[in-house]
Amino acid sequence: MKRKIVTLLLCTACFSYANSQPPHVTNKTAFINNLMSKMTIDEKIGQLNLVTPGGAVTGSVVSQDVDDKIRNGLVGGLFGITGPTAVRQAQDIAVKNSRLHIPLLFGLDVIHGHRTIFPIPLGLSCSWDTALIEQSAAIAAKEATADGLNWAFSPMVDIARDPRWGRVAEGSGEDPYLGSKIAAAMVRGYQGSNYDSAIHLMACVKHFALYGAAEAGRDYNTVDMSRIKMYEYYLPPYKAAVDAGVGSVMSSFNEIDGIPATANKWLLTDLLRKQWGFKGIVVSDYTAVSEMIAHGSGDLQTVSALALKAGLDMDMVSEGFLTTLKQSLKEGKVTEQQINVACRRILEAKYDLGLFANPYRFLDESRVLRDIMTDENRAAARNYAAHACVLLKNTNGVLPLKKSGTIALIGPLAQSQRNMLGTWSVSGDWQKSVTIDSGMRYVGGDSVNIIYAKGTNISDDTAFAKRVNAFGEEISIDQRTPQEMLDEAVNIAKNADVIVAALGEAADMTGESSSMTDISLPESQQTLLKALVATGKPVVVVLMNGRPMTLTWEDEHVAAIVDAWFGGTEAGNGIADVLFGNYNPSGKITMTFPRNVGQIPIYYNHKNTGRPYIEGQGTKFKSDYLDVTNDPLYPFGYGLSYTTFSYSDVSLDSNTISGNQTLKATVTVTNTGAVAGEETVQLYIGDPVASVTQPVKKLKGFQKIMLQPGESKQVIFNITSDDLKFYNSDLKYVFEPGTFIIHIGPNSRDVKSAMVNWDK
Ligand code: BGC
Repeated sequence: MKRKIVTLLLCTACFSYANSQPPHVTNKTAFINNLMSKMTIDEKIGQLNLVTPGGAVTGSVVSQDVDDKIRNGLVGGLFGITGPTAVRQAQDIAVKNSRLHIPLLFGLDVIHGHRTIFPIPLGLSCSWDTALIEQSAAIAAKEATADGLNWAFSPMVDIARDPRWGRVAEGSGEDPYLGSKIAAAMVRGYQGSNYDSAIHLMACVKHFALYGAAEAGRDYNTVDMSRIKMYEYYLPPYKAAVDAGVGSVMSSFNEIDGIPATANKWLLTDLLRKQWGFKGIVVSDYTAVSEMIAHGSGDLQTVSALALKAGLDMDMVSEGFLTTLKQSLKEGKVTEQQINVACRRILEAKYDLGLFANPYRFLDESRVLRDIMTDENRAAARNYAAHACVLLKNTNGVLPLKKSGTIALIGPLAQSQRNMLGTWSVSGDWQKSVTIDSGMRYVGGDSVNIIYAKGTNISDDTAFAKRVNAFGEEISIDQRTPQEMLDEAVNIAKNADVIVAALGEAADMTGESSSMTDISLPESQQTLLKALVATGKPVVVVLMNGRPMTLTWEDEHVAAIVDAWFGGTEAGNGIADVLFGNYNPSGKITMTFPRNVGQIPIYYNHKNTGRPYIEGQGTKFKSDYLDVTNDPLYPFGYGLSYTTFSYSDVSLDSNTISGNQTLKATVTVTNTGAVAGEETVQLYIGDPVASVTQPVKKLKGFQKIMLQPGESKQVIFNITSDDLKFYNSDLKYVFEPGTFIIHIGPNSRDVKSAMVNWDK
C-alpha cells in the first residue's frame, strides 16, 4: 500500500488543554453529558467524520482541507498518518485550536504487525497458536502506539471459502471455530485489559459482515446467504471479537439481503447491539457510505440518513454525514437523538482510551527508538515466520537441508525484498526485510554453498504486472529474455545437490482488489519449475502466496513443498530456520487447497447431500464431477512435520451420556520419528441426524503439543452438549439429543472416530 506522511498546519495560538477540563472528572456519563451540552449540531456531526489526508489510500477519494476541518470541530478521527510528530501536530490543532478541544482518534491499518511486519494473517493462523497470535497483536499495538496511533483497523475475521478472493490473505481462513479463537486472541492482544496502558489501542473487527462470501470471489461483490448459514459459519468470529470486548466494528462494503451492510439496521442494530450487546462504535469502511449510491440505495443525503438510522456512528472518508445530516435533520429525515447517540459513542471511545484525561497519551517521541523495530520484535517476527510455514510435501526426507554441499536457489522470489512483507503492510519498510537468499546464507553458514539465479519473472505478462505494481515494482520484468534466464537457472541447477525454487505470487496479487480467476503459479514460473524438475535433481518449492493455490502438478512432481505465505520482515530467516531444520515446521493450513478452480467453493465442513459420493460405490447420479474428484489437494488442517506422529484409536469414557455431563475423548499421540516436533491435534464432531442438516464435521477443539522422539502424550478433549449445538430453523442455538461422531486426527481428513449417544 502506498503511503505518504501528510503535514498538518500547526496553529500558533496555544491553548492549555488541561485548563479546559472540568476538575477531577471521574464519571464518564457526567463528563460526556457536560461536553455534549456545549456542542453545536455541527460539532456533533463533526465527531462522526473520519478523514484521511492521504497515506494508505484504498479508494479514489481523499479528504480535503483536513486541518481546517479539525480546527472547526468537524473531524472525529484521522487515519493515514503515523509518527508522533505528525500525529501531535494534528492532535494539537484539535486540542488547542478547536472550540471544545476534543481530542482526535488516530487510526491505521495495523494488520500483521506495524513497522515490524509479521506473516500475513492467513499464514499466522496456520500456527494454530492463539497465544502466539495474541502476542503478535500485542507487539503490533506497542509499535503502533509508539507511532502515535490509538486505533487499529484489525482484526479482519471474514470467513472465506473462496481462494479467488484476494482478501483471504488478511483473515484466518475458512473455519468459524478457529476463526473465533483467533479473533478473540487478537482483540486481547491489541486492547490489553481496557487499554490499561498506552501500549494498547482500540481494535476494530471487520468487515461486518460476510464480506468473505463475495460471489465468485470477486472483491466487493454481492453477498446473498441464508440466516442459518450466517449464524453457523460466518458470524461467529465477529461475535467472538465482540465478546472479547472489541471497541469498534467496521461495516463491510457488501450488501446483505439487498441492503448494504453500512445501512443495514438488522445487522448494525438488531443483531450487533440488541442481540450481541455491542456498546462500542461502528465505523464504515472506506467511502462505504457514498458507495451506497452506486449500490442503488439513493443519493448521498438519503444513504447517509439511512446509515445513521441503521446504527452507523462514523463515516470513513465519504463525508456524507458531514455534508448532509444537518439538512436531513431540518427535513425531519433523522432526529437529533440519532446524531446524539452516535456522537456519544465516539466520545465514549475517546474517554475509554484516556484521551480526555491526556490527549497526548499515545504521543511519547522517546518510544519510537525504544519500542519500534527492536531486536526483540524482529526475533518474534522470525519465530512467527517459521511458525507460519506449512510443510505440504516432503519425500525421502529431502528436508531439512544439510548445512553442507551446494544448493541452487532459484526463482523470482528468492531475492525479492519487496515481496517479503505481503499485502496490507502499510507501515512496513520492505528495504528492511530479509530475503530467502540472505536468510539461507545466514542460517546455512559458511559450509553450505548457495548459488542463485532468478530463473524467470514472477509473471511475463506486462499488462498484468502493471496492475499488480500499483504500489511499487513487485513484479520486475528482467532485461533478459525468458530463455536466457531459464538457461542460466538450469545450468546452475545442474551443479547443485538440491534445488530450492522460491516461487509464488507477488505481494499484491492478494489483498484488497486482488481477486484472481486462475490461482495456479503464473505460466512463466511453471515453465521454470518444469525445467528444474527435468534436471533430475530434487526440487524443494518454497511458496510465497497470500491464498491457497492450485498445485496439482507441483504436488506430483517436486520433492518437497513448504508454504511460507508472506512471512514479513524476517521472512527469509524464518524460512531458512525451517529449511535447515532449526525449527521443525508445525503449521497446518486453515483453508482448503483445491485441485483446480472448478472445485471452488471448497471447504471441509460441507454438507453430505442426498447423493453423496462414496468411494467404491460408483459415481453415476452422485454429487461429484466427471473430471475431478471431490477431494481437495490438501484438506483443511493439513500440514506435515520433519517427524511423524501416530494416533491411537479414539477412546470415550462413555458411549452413552446425557444432558450436562461431560464426555472425555482421548487419543494417545506418539512421535514416531527421529526429531522433536509439535503437533496440532484436532477434534471434529459430526451430527448425522438433526432437524437442520449438519455438515459432515465441524472443528470443535484443538491442542498443540510438543513431543520428543519416541514420546507419547494423551490428549484429552472435554466435550459438553454446548459443543453439539447448532442453529435451528428458528435461529435458536440448540442441542438435540442423538448420536454424534467424535473424530480426532492430524487434519480434517485423516481422523479416527468413535460414536456416542447423547440423551436429553
Ligand atoms: C479496507 C479496510 C481498511 C480501510 C482503511 C478499506 O478499503 O476495506 O479493510 O481498513 O480501507 O484503510
